[in-house]
This record gives sequence, C-alpha cells and structure tokens, in this order.
Amino acid sequence: MSRIVITGGLGFIGSYFVNYYAPLESGNQFLVLDVLNNTGFIDNIKDILILSNVSFKKCNINNKILVNKIFKDFKPDIVINFAAETSVDYSFKNPKIFEKTNVKGLQNLLNAGIKFKVKKFVQISTDEVYGDVDIDNDTTKFDEKSPLRPLNPYSSSKAKGDLMCLSYVDKSPMQISITRSANNFGPRQFIDKLIPHTLSSLLYGENIVLYGDGQNVRDRLFVGDNVNAIHEVVKIGVNGEIYNISSQNFKNNITIVDKIIKDVDYFTGKHHDYEIFREVGRKINDKKYSITNDKIKHLTNIEFCDFDSAFLDTIIWYINHPEFIEKCRKIKKQINK
Ligand SMILES: NC(=O)c1ccc[n+]([C@@H]2O[C@H](COP(=O)([O-])OP(=O)(O)OC[C@H]3O[C@@H](n4cnc5c(N)ncnc54)[C@H](O)[C@@H]3O)[C@@H](O)[C@H]2O)c1
Repeated sequence: MSRIVITGGLGFIGSYFVNYYAPLESGNQFLVLDVLNNTGFIDNIKDILILSNVSFKKCNINNKILVNKIFKDFKPDIVINFAAETSVDYSFKNPKIFEKTNVKGLQNLLNAGIKFKVKKFVQISTDEVYGDVDIDNDTTKFDEKSPLRPLNPYSSSKAKGDLMCLSYVDKSPMQISITRSANNFGPRQFIDKLIPHTLSSLLYGENIVLYGDGQNVRDRLFVGDNVNAIHEVVKIGVNGEIYNISSQNFKNNITIVDKIIKDVDYFTGKHHDYEIFREVGRKINDKKYSITNDKIKHLTNIEFCDFDSAFLDTIIWYINHPEFIEKCRKIKKQINK
C-alpha cells in the first residue's frame, strides 16, 4: 500500500489522474491538496471523494507550516506535484505569483518530502521550458538534454522549478523525477485554453477568437495518455531523470478550431454559425513546441490513444457538461472585471 499526495489535484490534469487511478488502486490512499484557485474545482473530484481511499485538504503549497503539518500527519510515500500557476497570459500580468508557487511552493514540498521521508517525488513540468522552433521546422525536436530557453514568465518559473528539483537529487534518499509534457487536451480544462475556449464561444453563439494567424503549432496530447505516462514514471522513473511526454500530434491552431467546429456539428446534428476573429496584436504566442518522446517510450512501451477519437470524446464531454463551461465563464468574467 502507498500513501500518495496529489497537489493541484482539483485542476485539469491532477483531477484526471486521481479520478482515473484512485478507483483502480483501492489499496493506495490518495490525499488531494489544492488551494482552489481559479482553475481548481472541488466538483472535479466529487465522484471519487466518496471512496474511502480518497480525501481532500485545502492547502496552499506556499504555506510551509501547513505543508509540513500535512506531511507529518499523512506520512506520504509518494508526492506528485501538479500544483502550479498555469496561465501564460496571466504570468505577464503577475509574474511574482508564478515565482512564488512554481518555485518557492515547490521548494516547500521538496523540503517537507525530505523531512518526512517521502520515497518518490514527481514534478510535473512542461515542454515550454525548451522554448519554441519555427513553424515550418519539422526537424528540430528537443530531448531531455536540450538547453532550457523559456519564453514567458510561466515557462521560466517552471524551468526554475525543474532546476530546483535537480539540485535536490543526490542530497537525500528521496527519489526525484520530472515529466515535461506537451499541450494536454481532455475534460475539465479551464476555458482560457484553446480547445475549451473555442467550444465555449461556439456553444454560446459567440465569435471565435484566434490569436495571430492560427498557424502556431502545438503538440496535442490526450490527458489520459499523459497521466498514464506519469503513473509509469512514479513506478519506474529513475532518480534525477527527466521524461518528455508527447504523442507527436503536431497541429496548428486553425486546424484544431476547424476540427472542433466539425466535431460539434457532427455530434449535435446542427450547423453552428461563427466568425473567426483574429487577435493579431498578441505578441506572446510561441511559434511551435517540439519535443521527442523516445525516452518515455523506451521506459514504458506506452501506447498512445487514437488522436481523433480522444478529440471527439473530449468535445462530447464538454457538450454533455454545460455546467462546467458555465462555471468557468463566470470565473473568467470575475477575473476580467
Ligand atoms: N495543461 C497542459 O497542457 C500542461 C502541459 C504541460 C505541463 N503542465 C503542467 O501540469 C500541471 C497541471 O496543469 P493543469 O493544466 O492541470 O493546470 P490547472 O491550472 O488546471 O491546475 C492547477 C491546479 O493547481 C492548483 N494550485 C495553484 N496554485 C496552488 C498553490 N499555491 N497551492 C496549491 N494548489 C495550487 C490550482 O487550484 C489548480 O487546481 C502544472 O504544473 C502545469 O505546469 C500542463
């Protein structure tokens, strides 16, 4: 039996992890820690909170005293840190909070992990730490040894967090591994990201806003594939090692928007009218993220799911959960006030 702390477990990826693995691993105890900021909703784990092996505590990872108390009481064997400030746009407006949570909060967790004899610590990081490549560059792919070249305060705070983790390796018996994944898609993603944002506009009869000319490329990874890979890293990831996670689905943003429109029309049987509004002034859009996936495939023999069907399932989830989009829209309105 393992005792597992999932920080940021009310957010998009953390909640997918705990919703998927807690019912499968009834012998393990899962403690979800989250501060419940704009992207973390208790409803995201309501179906599994009834299980006897899942509990939740409101906790800001920046609160060192509280983190220590929780670790002392719960005695985790494993910590998976999904907690982070995650909005690139917001990181330009308020970079300090990104430093605080994504670097210093992480450091609190590492220190508590060492103090209370955690065996394994997995830091969830991002492909954005490598920076971008040109849109038509199909040959450059960053591997785990590539230099860090973050291009916004979000990715620079994540890069600093990664370096912080690496500086703790070999200083304690706690095993530390890092995952760096591509752009995730799936259920329960806050609507500031392209896919739920487009869906929200479409379902509310609004014009679709696309940054720039829509040619920017992202490597789209189904969140279920990401959590499977993270789960493997928890089990067999090596101390001090970094693992890129990608299913090599490079798509430009306009292709994704077209696909959403087609899938929504197909599933609802209705034609949706829309106009695409291009927000050309936005300068903070990295061109293309591009990473390898050889190391994770070698470690795990992971099979990635079919992109088109995972994408359609995602669209169907949002259509069937209008309350999720409504909740996000209310929060977004409050933020923009
Ligand atoms: N979404 C992606 O495509 C993607 C890609 C690569 C890496 N990542 C990384 O994966 C992790 C999870 O991302 P996500 O997309 O689920 O983000 P998210 O914003 O949906 O979730 C983050 C969660 O962390 C919580 N949180 C924020 N600050 C906290 C604090 N101080 N203390 C405790 N909890 C706090 C939030 O309430 C939220 O529930 C992040 O570390 C992110 O950098 C995300």
